Amino acid sequence: MMSGYPLLLPPDSDGIQTAAEILQDGRLVAFPTETVYGLGGDATNDHAVAAIFEAKGRPSFNPLIVHFPDSSAVWPHVDMDTETDKLVRMMAGAFWPGPLTMVLGRSTESSLSLLVSAGLDTVAVRVPSHPVAHDLLTATGLPLAAPSANRSGSISPTQADHVLESLDGKIDAVVDGGRSRIGIESTVISFHTANSGRPILLRPGGISREDIETLIGPIDVVNTDETPSILHSPGMLKRHYAPETQIRLNASSAQPEEVLLGFGPSALTGAPDGSLNLSETGDLREAAANLFAMMRRLDAMGKEAIAVTSIPETGLGLAINDRLRRAATPENP
Ligand code: TXA
Ligand code: MG
Repeated sequence: MMSGYPLLLPPDSDGIQTAAEILQDGRLVAFPTETVYGLGGDATNDHAVAAIFEAKGRPSFNPLIVHFPDSSAVWPHVDMDTETDKLVRMMAGAFWPGPLTMVLGRSTESSLSLLVSAGLDTVAVRVPSHPVAHDLLTATGLPLAAPSANRSGSISPTQADHVLESLDGKIDAVVDGGRSRIGIESTVISFHTANSGRPILLRPGGISREDIETLIGPIDVVNTDETPSILHSPGMLKRHYAPETQIRLNASSAQPEEVLLGFGPSALTGAPDGSLNLSETGDLREAAANLFAMMRRLDAMGKEAIAVTSIPETGLGLAINDRLRRAATPENP
């Protein structure tokens, strides 16, 4: 983590090159898009994505939008049936680059961090039109995860000094691209609909519903207030990844037939074979980076339960515990 002020970089080729190197190093850079400024990190790097959640100070893991320089860079990461593929490519042709985010099924081969999906089997993808965003994505050669560059609960930033006000000391650099032209976030639409075949508008934004319906016909809309609950509603969208195996929280050790998910030094002392440590040094960022991948590995062992040692309720620990509690309480008993 940086001490003092983040670097304010000019939007020229030197500034973009410096920003690209910081990002390739797994650190965070805020950058302008046509909607709002994004808090960017390498979307293929678990630690960088965990650092984004830490900088935002969110008490839970919301899935993040992943940004690409063009649509051809998107396709290898997503997976859809022929019919959906046709609609999605029409949408991409009409609205990318631009303020449109599409939620699509993740390809099993995708190199994107599981943390950008926050446990869902989908990923939100977008190709921004801002030239600085485009040049930065090209210079890094990486997909960039980027939520709006503000602390959780505050207003999305549309200029570099807003970012500094909100995230001073939490990020390494900001690329100053002046004011964001659109000033409201991208439209988020899901094509990953479990039951109804129709795409669902999850968040109104820079592209209007009418423009979308003119292109692809009727879509469903969720009330934005209900977005968080719809993310967990299995009838509407694929729900969060829920392990088959029961989860037992605040365990001090594993019982026979259990496996242990530990945290901190010597957490695995005497634990059954196959047990895993989220972070041996007790580093919450490392624990967040490991969480989803380790849960999947332990789940695949098919034990009676996964016993999880306690994790501090501070910093990223809030989001980790929130996720573990959801996993421990079946949403659909
Ligand atoms: O304009 C924008 O979209 C800006 C710029 C930086 O690109 N980004 C932005 O990100 O607003 P954020 O994290 O503040 O909002 C992302 C929205 C959230 O409402 C989140 O729940 C939704 O997208 N989202 C992301 N991934 C999702 C997924 N896999 N399924 C459903 N919703 C998803
Ligand atoms: Mg936001």
